[in-house]
Amino acid sequence: MRKAGIWGVGRALPERVLTNADLERMVDTSDEWITTRTGIKERRIAASNDTAADLASEAAKAALADADVTADEIDMIIVATVTPDMPFPATSCLVQAQLGAQNSAAFDLSAGCSGFIYALAMAASCIESGLSRRVLVIGVDILSRITDWSDRTTCVLFGDGAGACVVGPVSRGGILATYMGADGTGGDKLYVPTAYFRYSPSEGTRPAKKHHIYMAGNEVFKFAVRIMGDASLEVLRRAGLSSEDIALFIPHQANIRIIDAAAKRLGLSSEHVFVNVHKYGNTSAASIGIALSEAVDQGRVNPGDRLVLVGFGAGLTWGAVALEWTGIKERDLA
Ligand code: UT7
Repeated sequence: MRKAGIWGVGRALPERVLTNADLERMVDTSDEWITTRTGIKERRIAASNDTAADLASEAAKAALADADVTADEIDMIIVATVTPDMPFPATSCLVQAQLGAQNSAAFDLSAGCSGFIYALAMAASCIESGLSRRVLVIGVDILSRITDWSDRTTCVLFGDGAGACVVGPVSRGGILATYMGADGTGGDKLYVPTAYFRYSPSEGTRPAKKHHIYMAGNEVFKFAVRIMGDASLEVLRRAGLSSEDIALFIPHQANIRIIDAAAKRLGLSSEHVFVNVHKYGNTSAASIGIALSEAVDQGRVNPGDRLVLVGFGAGLTWGAVALEWTGIKERDLA
Protein backbone atom coordinates (compact mmCIF):
# COMPACT_ATOMS: atom_id res chain seq x y z
CA MET A 1 0.00 0.00 0.00
CA ARG A 2 1.22 3.49 -0.78
CA LYS A 3 2.23 5.54 2.28
CA ALA A 4 1.12 9.10 3.03
CA GLY A 5 3.22 11.75 4.70
CA ILE A 6 3.17 15.47 5.44
CA TRP A 7 5.06 17.43 2.79
CA GLY A 8 4.59 20.94 4.16
CA VAL A 9 2.86 22.96 6.87
CA GLY A 10 1.48 26.49 7.29
CA ARG A 11 -0.64 28.64 9.58
CA ALA A 12 -2.51 31.94 9.75
CA LEU A 13 -3.23 33.96 12.87
CA PRO A 14 -5.16 37.23 12.94
CA GLU A 15 -3.09 40.22 14.05
CA ARG A 16 -5.37 41.43 16.83
CA VAL A 17 -4.30 40.18 20.26
CA LEU A 18 -6.80 39.97 23.12
CA THR A 19 -4.99 39.66 26.46
CA ASN A 20 -6.22 38.48 29.84
CA ALA A 21 -5.99 42.11 30.95
CA ASP A 22 -8.41 43.05 28.15
CA LEU A 23 -10.81 40.34 29.37
CA GLU A 24 -10.58 41.67 32.94
CA ARG A 25 -12.23 44.82 31.59
CA MET A 26 -15.00 42.84 29.85
CA VAL A 27 -16.12 40.22 32.42
CA ASP A 28 -15.62 39.38 36.09
CA THR A 29 -12.37 37.46 35.71
CA SER A 30 -8.65 37.83 36.42
CA ASP A 31 -5.37 37.09 34.70
CA GLU A 32 -4.54 34.93 37.73
CA TRP A 33 -7.69 32.75 37.33
CA ILE A 34 -7.28 32.33 33.57
CA THR A 35 -3.56 31.55 33.82
CA THR A 36 -3.80 29.01 36.63
CA ARG A 37 -6.97 27.26 35.33
CA THR A 38 -6.10 27.22 31.62
CA GLY A 39 -2.52 28.38 30.92
CA ILE A 40 -3.86 30.96 28.43
CA LYS A 41 -2.33 34.48 28.46
CA GLU A 42 -3.65 35.85 25.16
CA ARG A 43 -5.54 34.84 22.02
CA ARG A 44 -5.99 36.20 18.47
CA ILE A 45 -9.26 37.66 17.22
CA ALA A 46 -10.22 37.89 13.55
CA ALA A 47 -10.98 41.32 12.06
CA SER A 48 -14.63 41.87 11.19
CA ASN A 49 -13.90 41.53 7.46
CA ASP A 50 -11.82 38.32 7.86
CA THR A 51 -13.58 35.16 6.73
CA ALA A 52 -12.79 31.55 7.59
CA ALA A 53 -11.93 31.07 3.90
CA ASP A 54 -9.43 33.99 4.09
CA LEU A 55 -7.62 32.54 7.10
CA ALA A 56 -7.74 29.03 5.63
CA SER A 57 -6.34 30.25 2.29
CA GLU A 58 -3.49 32.13 3.99
CA ALA A 59 -2.51 29.00 5.95
CA ALA A 60 -2.88 26.87 2.80
CA LYS A 61 -0.61 29.16 0.75
CA ALA A 62 2.08 28.86 3.42
CA ALA A 63 1.73 25.05 3.43
CA LEU A 64 1.91 24.89 -0.38
CA ALA A 65 5.07 27.02 -0.39
CA ASP A 66 6.60 24.87 2.36
CA ALA A 67 5.76 21.69 0.40
CA ASP A 68 6.91 23.22 -2.90
CA VAL A 69 3.59 22.21 -4.45
CA THR A 70 1.52 24.46 -6.72
CA ALA A 71 -2.21 24.97 -6.21
CA ASP A 72 -3.06 23.24 -9.49
CA GLU A 73 -1.30 20.05 -8.31
CA ILE A 74 -3.74 19.72 -5.40
CA ASP A 75 -6.51 17.21 -6.15
CA MET A 76 -8.39 17.25 -2.81
CA ILE A 77 -9.07 20.01 -0.28
CA ILE A 78 -10.49 19.06 3.11
CA VAL A 79 -11.44 21.90 5.45
CA ALA A 80 -12.25 21.02 9.06
CA THR A 81 -14.34 23.71 10.71
CA VAL A 82 -17.32 24.37 12.98
CA THR A 83 -17.54 27.98 11.80
CA PRO A 84 -17.96 27.74 8.03
CA ASP A 85 -18.57 31.07 6.33
CA MET A 86 -21.90 29.86 4.95
CA PRO A 87 -24.08 26.74 5.12
CA PHE A 88 -23.08 26.28 1.50
CA PRO A 89 -20.96 26.43 -0.55
CA ALA A 90 -18.45 24.60 1.61
CA THR A 91 -15.61 26.74 2.95
CA SER A 92 -13.26 24.35 1.09
CA CYS A 93 -14.80 25.51 -2.21
CA LEU A 94 -14.25 29.16 -1.25
CA VAL A 95 -10.64 28.24 -0.46
CA GLN A 96 -10.29 26.40 -3.78
CA ALA A 97 -11.35 29.57 -5.60
CA GLN A 98 -8.95 31.78 -3.59
CA LEU A 99 -6.05 29.42 -4.31
CA GLY A 100 -6.93 28.78 -7.95
CA ALA A 101 -6.75 25.04 -7.24
CA GLN A 102 -8.95 24.22 -10.21
CA ASN A 103 -8.00 20.51 -10.36
CA SER A 104 -9.22 19.81 -6.86
CA ALA A 105 -12.28 18.25 -5.29
CA ALA A 106 -13.29 20.03 -2.09
CA PHE A 107 -15.38 19.28 0.97
CA ASP A 108 -15.78 20.37 4.60
CA LEU A 109 -15.69 18.17 7.64
CA SER A 110 -17.24 18.87 11.06
CA ALA A 111 -15.70 17.10 14.05
CA GLY A 112 -15.24 19.96 16.53
CA CYS A 113 -11.69 20.45 17.79
CA SER A 114 -10.83 16.92 16.55
CA GLY A 115 -11.44 18.13 12.98
CA PHE A 116 -7.78 18.48 12.00
CA ILE A 117 -7.07 14.88 13.09
CA TYR A 118 -10.14 13.57 11.25
CA ALA A 119 -9.13 15.50 8.10
CA LEU A 120 -5.55 14.25 8.29
CA ALA A 121 -6.79 10.66 8.64
CA MET A 122 -9.08 11.14 5.61
CA ALA A 123 -6.21 12.66 3.61
CA ALA A 124 -3.94 9.73 4.46
CA SER A 125 -6.55 7.23 3.31
CA CYS A 126 -7.12 9.20 0.07
CA ILE A 127 -3.38 8.94 -0.69
CA GLU A 128 -3.04 5.32 0.45
CA SER A 129 -6.00 4.16 -1.64
CA GLY A 130 -4.75 5.96 -4.74
CA LEU A 131 -7.83 8.22 -4.84
CA SER A 132 -5.68 11.36 -4.49
CA ARG A 133 -2.07 12.38 -5.00
CA ARG A 134 -1.83 15.75 -3.23
CA VAL A 135 -4.28 16.62 -0.48
CA LEU A 136 -4.57 19.95 1.29
CA VAL A 137 -5.77 19.62 4.89
CA ILE A 138 -6.89 22.79 6.66
CA GLY A 139 -8.33 23.34 10.12
CA VAL A 140 -9.89 26.77 10.56
CA ASP A 141 -12.21 28.36 13.09
CA ILE A 142 -13.36 31.85 13.96
CA LEU A 143 -14.90 31.01 17.33
CA SER A 144 -14.95 34.70 18.32
CA ARG A 145 -18.08 35.01 16.14
CA ILE A 146 -19.98 32.45 18.25
CA THR A 147 -18.51 33.35 21.63
CA ASP A 148 -20.78 34.91 24.24
CA TRP A 149 -18.53 37.78 25.33
CA SER A 150 -20.57 38.20 28.52
CA ASP A 151 -20.04 34.57 29.64
CA ARG A 152 -16.79 34.37 31.62
CA THR A 153 -16.91 30.57 31.74
CA THR A 154 -16.32 30.30 27.98
CA CYS A 155 -15.11 33.65 26.56
CA VAL A 156 -11.66 33.41 28.14
CA LEU A 157 -10.91 30.09 26.43
CA PHE A 158 -11.16 30.58 22.69
CA GLY A 159 -9.27 32.22 19.82
CA ASP A 160 -9.22 32.35 16.01
CA GLY A 161 -6.80 30.92 13.46
CA ALA A 162 -6.02 28.36 10.77
CA GLY A 163 -3.48 25.56 10.39
CA ALA A 164 -2.77 23.61 7.20
CA CYS A 165 -0.65 20.85 5.73
CA VAL A 166 -0.06 19.25 2.35
CA VAL A 167 -0.26 15.46 2.40
CA GLY A 168 1.37 13.40 -0.35
CA PRO A 169 2.89 9.98 -1.02
CA VAL A 170 6.15 9.08 0.74
CA SER A 171 8.56 6.19 0.24
CA ARG A 172 8.88 5.38 3.94
CA GLY A 173 7.69 6.64 7.34
CA GLY A 174 4.80 9.09 7.08
CA ILE A 175 1.48 8.41 8.75
CA LEU A 176 1.87 5.17 10.70
CA ALA A 177 -1.57 4.86 12.32
CA THR A 178 -4.78 6.78 12.92
CA TYR A 179 -7.54 6.40 15.45
CA MET A 180 -10.88 8.23 15.59
CA GLY A 181 -13.86 7.95 17.88
CA ALA A 182 -17.09 9.68 18.85
CA ASP A 183 -19.69 9.59 21.61
CA GLY A 184 -22.79 11.44 20.44
CA THR A 185 -24.46 10.96 23.82
CA GLY A 186 -22.12 13.76 24.97
CA GLY A 187 -23.37 16.15 22.31
CA ASP A 188 -25.07 18.29 24.93
CA LYS A 189 -21.78 18.96 26.74
CA LEU A 190 -20.49 21.42 24.14
CA TYR A 191 -22.75 22.87 21.49
CA VAL A 192 -24.18 25.86 19.63
CA PRO A 193 -28.01 25.57 19.62
CA THR A 194 -28.74 27.35 16.36
CA ALA A 195 -28.17 25.02 13.46
CA TYR A 196 -28.61 26.53 10.02
CA PHE A 197 -31.85 24.67 9.37
CA ARG A 198 -32.85 23.63 12.86
CA TYR A 199 -35.25 26.55 13.35
CA SER A 200 -38.04 27.45 11.00
CA PRO A 201 -38.06 31.06 9.70
CA SER A 202 -40.98 31.94 12.01
CA GLU A 203 -38.70 31.26 14.99
CA GLY A 204 -36.07 33.54 13.51
CA THR A 205 -32.79 32.32 12.09
CA ARG A 206 -30.73 33.51 15.04
CA PRO A 207 -32.91 33.48 18.14
CA ALA A 208 -31.43 35.52 20.99
CA LYS A 209 -28.65 33.72 22.87
CA LYS A 210 -29.01 30.62 20.70
CA HIS A 211 -26.00 31.27 18.51
CA HIS A 212 -23.37 31.10 21.22
CA ILE A 213 -21.21 28.30 22.57
CA TYR A 214 -22.67 26.42 25.54
CA MET A 215 -20.35 24.17 27.49
CA ALA A 216 -20.43 21.97 30.58
CA GLY A 217 -16.76 22.87 31.19
CA ASN A 218 -16.02 20.49 34.02
CA GLU A 219 -17.56 17.46 32.30
CA VAL A 220 -15.68 18.25 29.08
CA PHE A 221 -12.52 18.62 31.17
CA LYS A 222 -12.90 15.16 32.72
CA PHE A 223 -13.68 13.61 29.34
CA ALA A 224 -10.65 15.37 27.80
CA VAL A 225 -8.20 14.21 30.47
CA ARG A 226 -9.33 10.59 29.99
CA ILE A 227 -9.60 10.54 26.21
CA MET A 228 -6.33 12.34 25.38
CA GLY A 229 -4.41 9.59 27.16
CA ASP A 230 -6.62 6.74 25.88
CA ALA A 231 -6.50 7.92 22.25
CA SER A 232 -2.72 8.45 22.33
CA LEU A 233 -2.12 4.98 23.76
CA GLU A 234 -4.46 3.42 21.20
CA VAL A 235 -2.75 5.08 18.22
CA LEU A 236 0.66 4.07 19.60
CA ARG A 237 -0.58 0.47 19.88
CA ARG A 238 -1.84 0.55 16.29
CA ALA A 239 1.53 1.92 15.11
CA GLY A 240 3.46 -0.71 17.09
CA LEU A 241 5.15 2.01 19.15
CA SER A 242 5.36 2.93 22.81
CA SER A 243 5.41 6.36 24.42
CA GLU A 244 9.25 6.26 24.71
CA ASP A 245 9.32 6.43 20.90
CA ILE A 246 7.60 9.85 20.86
CA ALA A 247 10.02 12.64 19.91
CA LEU A 248 7.25 15.24 20.05
CA PHE A 249 3.69 15.04 21.36
CA ILE A 250 1.39 17.66 19.78
CA PRO A 251 -1.93 17.74 21.65
CA HIS A 252 -4.97 19.90 20.98
CA GLN A 253 -4.29 23.19 22.76
CA ALA A 254 -7.34 23.68 24.97
CA ASN A 255 -6.01 23.88 28.50
CA ILE A 256 -2.51 23.39 29.93
CA ARG A 257 -3.94 21.19 32.71
CA ILE A 258 -5.41 18.79 30.12
CA ILE A 259 -2.09 18.76 28.21
CA ASP A 260 -0.10 18.14 31.40
CA ALA A 261 -2.40 15.29 32.46
CA ALA A 262 -2.06 13.60 29.06
CA ALA A 263 1.74 14.02 29.08
CA LYS A 264 1.91 12.58 32.59
CA ARG A 265 -0.18 9.55 31.58
CA LEU A 266 2.25 8.92 28.71
CA GLY A 267 5.27 9.51 30.94
CA LEU A 268 6.55 12.35 28.72
CA SER A 269 8.81 15.12 29.98
CA SER A 270 8.18 18.70 28.88
CA GLU A 271 10.80 18.72 26.10
CA HIS A 272 8.69 16.11 24.29
CA VAL A 273 5.44 18.10 24.54
CA PHE A 274 4.53 21.05 22.29
CA VAL A 275 2.62 23.88 23.98
CA ASN A 276 1.42 27.20 22.54
CA VAL A 277 -1.94 27.49 24.34
CA HIS A 278 -0.60 30.54 26.22
CA LYS A 279 -0.40 32.52 22.94
CA TYR A 280 -3.53 31.48 21.07
CA GLY A 281 -6.02 29.87 23.49
CA ASN A 282 -8.21 27.14 22.04
CA THR A 283 -8.48 27.66 18.27
CA SER A 284 -10.68 24.58 17.81
CA ALA A 285 -10.10 22.73 14.51
CA ALA A 286 -7.08 24.96 13.79
CA SER A 287 -5.18 24.22 16.99
CA ILE A 288 -3.20 21.07 16.09
CA GLY A 289 -2.33 22.39 12.61
CA ILE A 290 -1.06 25.67 14.05
CA ALA A 291 0.95 23.80 16.69
CA LEU A 292 2.49 21.43 14.12
CA SER A 293 3.44 24.34 11.86
CA GLU A 294 5.08 26.24 14.74
CA ALA A 295 6.89 23.13 15.93
CA VAL A 296 8.39 22.64 12.45
CA ASP A 297 9.41 26.31 12.22
CA GLN A 298 11.07 26.09 15.64
CA GLY A 299 13.18 23.13 14.47
CA ARG A 300 11.52 20.78 16.94
CA VAL A 301 10.53 18.26 14.22
CA ASN A 302 13.22 16.47 12.19
CA PRO A 303 13.15 13.64 9.64
CA GLY A 304 12.83 10.29 11.39
CA ASP A 305 11.11 11.77 14.46
CA ARG A 306 7.98 9.98 15.65
CA LEU A 307 5.11 12.32 16.51
CA VAL A 308 1.72 11.78 18.10
CA LEU A 309 -1.00 14.34 17.36
CA VAL A 310 -4.15 14.03 19.46
CA GLY A 311 -7.37 15.98 19.86
CA PHE A 312 -10.83 15.97 21.42
CA GLY A 313 -13.84 18.16 20.93
CA ALA A 314 -17.52 18.76 20.42
CA GLY A 315 -19.50 15.76 19.32
CA LEU A 316 -18.03 14.51 21.52
CA THR A 317 -15.21 13.39 19.26
CA TRP A 318 -11.59 12.38 19.58
CA GLY A 319 -8.76 11.32 17.31
CA ALA A 320 -5.04 10.67 17.15
CA VAL A 321 -2.40 10.25 14.46
CA ALA A 322 1.03 8.63 14.89
CA LEU A 323 3.53 9.57 12.21
CA GLU A 324 7.18 9.49 11.32
CA TRP A 325 8.33 12.85 9.99
CA THR A 326 9.65 12.59 6.46
CA GLY A 327 12.16 14.81 4.69
CA ILE A 328 12.28 15.86 1.04
CA LYS A 329 14.19 12.66 0.16
CA GLU A 330 11.24 10.50 1.16
CA ARG A 331 8.73 12.26 -1.08
CA ASP A 332 7.37 9.91 -3.71
CA LEU A 333 7.06 12.11 -6.80
CA ALA A 334 6.23 9.26 -9.19
O1 UT7 B 1 -11.83 21.92 22.70
C1 UT7 B 1 -12.75 21.53 23.67
C2 UT7 B 1 -13.27 22.77 24.34
N1 UT7 B 1 -13.48 22.75 25.74
C3 UT7 B 1 -12.54 22.58 26.68
O2 UT7 B 1 -11.43 22.22 26.46
C4 UT7 B 1 -12.97 22.90 28.08
C5 UT7 B 1 -12.55 21.88 29.09
N2 UT7 B 1 -12.79 22.43 30.45
C6 UT7 B 1 -11.90 23.27 31.03
O3 UT7 B 1 -10.87 23.59 30.46
C7 UT7 B 1 -12.22 23.74 32.42
O4 UT7 B 1 -13.33 23.02 32.92
C8 UT7 B 1 -12.50 25.27 32.51
C9 UT7 B 1 -11.22 26.04 32.28
C10 UT7 B 1 -13.56 25.67 31.51
C11 UT7 B 1 -13.00 25.63 33.91
O5 UT7 B 1 -12.06 25.22 34.89
P1 UT7 B 1 -12.57 24.40 36.18
O6 UT7 B 1 -11.38 24.19 37.02
O7 UT7 B 1 -13.31 23.20 35.68
O8 UT7 B 1 -13.51 25.46 36.87
P2 UT7 B 1 -15.06 25.35 37.21
O9 UT7 B 1 -15.87 25.34 35.96
O10 UT7 B 1 -15.24 24.20 38.16
O11 UT7 B 1 -15.30 26.70 37.94
C12 UT7 B 1 -14.64 27.01 39.17
C13 UT7 B 1 -15.06 28.39 39.64
C14 UT7 B 1 -16.57 28.63 39.57
O12 UT7 B 1 -16.91 29.41 40.69
P3 UT7 B 1 -17.65 28.73 41.95
O13 UT7 B 1 -18.90 28.14 41.41
O14 UT7 B 1 -16.68 27.70 42.46
O15 UT7 B 1 -17.85 29.87 42.87
C15 UT7 B 1 -16.73 29.47 38.33
O16 UT7 B 1 -17.86 30.32 38.39
O17 UT7 B 1 -14.48 29.38 38.78
C16 UT7 B 1 -15.49 30.28 38.32
N3 UT7 B 1 -15.13 30.75 37.00
C17 UT7 B 1 -14.36 31.84 36.79
N4 UT7 B 1 -13.81 32.72 37.63
C18 UT7 B 1 -13.08 33.72 37.10
C19 UT7 B 1 -15.43 30.20 35.80
N5 UT7 B 1 -14.89 30.92 34.81
C20 UT7 B 1 -14.23 31.95 35.40
C21 UT7 B 1 -13.47 33.03 34.91
N6 UT7 B 1 -12.91 33.88 35.79
N7 UT7 B 1 -13.25 33.22 33.57
